Amino acid sequence: MQSNKGKIYDKKPFKFNCIKGKSYMWCSCGWSKSQPFCDQTHRNPHYRITMRPVRFIAPETKEYIFCNCKQSSKRPFCDGTHKREEIQAAIRS
Ligand code: FES
Repeated sequence: MQSNKGKIYDKKPFKFNCIKGKSYMWCSCGWSKSQPFCDQTHRNPHYRITMRPVRFIAPETKEYIFCNCKQSSKRPFCDGTHKREEIQAAIRS
């Protein structure tokens, strides 16, 4: 049974410079190899992933802080949830 949050990918957010008007697909499942963005891995039937990426169109050119633990409630952005002990403990690096 899948939760509505993806698998924990990292224990910290990812800063990325986005370009105004450009569309970005944030990986919500945690399986992409192009984190924090989607690489279509969720389509692989082997993983049986029901989550879909979250589209973000940058309203301005600047650095955004994307969630990379995949547990945020403000997807695709970091809301500090990664500071929880169980998330920090899940990734040891
Ligand atoms: Fe996911 Fe901060 S990286 S809430």
